[in-house]
Amino acid sequence: MTSDNISRALAAPGRAATPDGAATHEGAAASDASSGDCGGCALRTNRRGFIGGVAAALAILVVDGLLPRDAEALPAALVQGGAAGGHEMAYPVPAADGVQIDKGEGVIIARHAGMIYAFNLSCPHQNTALRWNEGSNQFQCPRHKSKYQPDGVFISGRATRAMDRFALRREGDRLVVDLDKLYEQDSDAAGWGAAKVAA
Ligand code: FES
Repeated sequence: MTSDNISRALAAPGRAATPDGAATHEGAAASDASSGDCGGCALRTNRRGFIGGVAAALAILVVDGLLPRDAEALPAALVQGGAAGGHEMAYPVPAADGVQIDKGEGVIIARHAGMIYAFNLSCPHQNTALRWNEGSNQFQCPRHKSKYQPDGVFISGRATRAMDRFALRREGDRLVVDLDKLYEQDSDAAGWGAAKVAA
């Protein structure tokens, strides 16, 4: 199984932040379509197809070592959020540290070091779907190899900012993610820094 195949399995349309912070589906999808380097990024499917896709992606994760094999690595899993009204999605509060990817909505939920974050699945450089590398506990971009910490902080690569964060809040045992509020670190450092909740 090649890294390209893993990328396609986890690829999904993300959102590009507009200057006023509003998020759109079209930005990521259009960029990927034009680049020709992320053929599955614009994948949309029905519910039956989605479930089949989840199973296939999980199989790939197991084969390529992206599911947990030791106590120190943060595990990865796929998740499907539920509509919470407006452009908000609800997810269960993660019970343990790890990474959950909602392909359909282009959202990554990550719990790490006592905090929970909701990231845009799209790389902030050119909107390629990011993936989680359990071996290094880093998010990685398959296109230009940018790397990010579990809290989204930029490590290296062509990107020039951290992973974009959605606004989120905790309501009892669920996380509510506002898909209309996407914070970019370089244009709104305060908003980006505050976009997290305690685990
Ligand atoms: S698209 Fe991710 S580093 Fe270029």
